[in-house]
Amino acid sequence: MGVSLRGKGRPAPRRADILDLTMPLSSVSGNNHPSGSRNIPYRSHDSGMSSQPVIDVVDVHREYKMGGETVAALRGVSMCVQPGEFVAIVGKSGSGKTTLLHLLGCLDRPTRGSYRLGGSDVQGLTDDALSSLRNEHIGFVFQSFQLLARASAAKNVALPLVYAGVPRRKRRELAAAALERVGLGDRLNHRPNQMSGGERQRVAIARALVGSPTLLLADEPTGNLDSTTEREAMRLFYELHEAGNTIVLVTHEPSIAQQCPRAIRLADGRVIGDGAGSRVGSASYEPVEATHAG
Ligand SMILES: Nc1ncnc2c1ncn2[C@@H]1O[C@H](COP(=O)(O)OP(=O)(O)O)[C@@H](O)[C@H]1O
Ligand SMILES: [Mg+2]
Repeated sequence: MGVSLRGKGRPAPRRADILDLTMPLSSVSGNNHPSGSRNIPYRSHDSGMSSQPVIDVVDVHREYKMGGETVAALRGVSMCVQPGEFVAIVGKSGSGKTTLLHLLGCLDRPTRGSYRLGGSDVQGLTDDALSSLRNEHIGFVFQSFQLLARASAAKNVALPLVYAGVPRRKRRELAAAALERVGLGDRLNHRPNQMSGGERQRVAIARALVGSPTLLLADEPTGNLDSTTEREAMRLFYELHEAGNTIVLVTHEPSIAQQCPRAIRLADGRVIGDGAGSRVGSASYEPVEATHAG
C-alpha cells in the first residue's frame, strides 16, 4: 500500500543520503506514478476509524536561540494527519507555519515534544536516519520554486532520483511521467527562464512528486503566483489529493485555506483552530478545543 511507511524493522533501500536542505529529496518506491495505483479513500481526520496517521505531533515546541534571547516559534503544537488528507496550515506571518512545516518534513527537530511520521518516532533517530526518512517519504514544494536555472524541466525533476541512485533511463522516464502528471508533458526541455511562473511552480511540484513520497509538503506554494495561476495550482493540489496523496500546505491567505478540506490555524506558535477549510474566517470554524487536535 502506497502510503504506509516502512516499519523500523525493515531495512530501507540503499541510497545516498544527501543533506541538502534546499532540495526536496525523495526516492523511488514501488509505486512510481504519483496518481497511479494509489486508491486511498478520503478519510476525514475525525472519522474515528482511521488507520495509522501519517503525521502525529504531540505538544511540540521549537525555540530558536538568538544571541542571549530565546524565540519561541512553536509553543505546544499537537496535530494528527491521516493518509489521504489535504490540510492547510494557515496563520499570519510569524505564527510558526514554516517552522512547523520544516519539523514535519524532517528538516529540523523539535526542542521538545514528539513527532511520529508514519509511526516512526523521529526523536530518537540519528541525522542520517532522519535524512533517510525524509528522502524516502517527503516531497517539498517551496514558495521560491528553487529550480536549477540552467537545467531543463526534466533534469530538475529528475534530480532527487540522482541522489536516490536511480539509473539514468529510469530517471528520465519517471521525470517525464511526473511532468505529464502536472500538465507539462510538452515542456520537458524548457529551462525555468523559458517558462511562466505557474509552469515553474508545476515543475517544482513534479519534482516533489517524482519519488512517490508519502507526504507532500508545500510552503506558501501560491505566494509568487497571480490569481489565475494560483487557481490552477490549487486545482492541481486538489487533483493530487483526489489521487490519494497526503498533502500539507502552508499559507497566510484564508482564501487559500478555504479551498482545502481541512485547515489548522496557528497563532503565536499555537494551534487555535482546526476544522473544515471552507469555514476558515467564519464563526462556525471550530475552535481547537472542539476537535481532536487540542
Ligand atoms: N532561524 C530562526 N532563528 C530565529 N528565529 C526564527 C528563525 N526562524 C523563524 N524564527 C522566528 O520564529 C517565528 C516563526 O517564524 P516562521 O515559522 O517563519 O513563521 P511563518 O512561516 O508563519 O511566517 C517568528 O517570530 C520568526 O521570527
Ligand atoms: Mg513562512
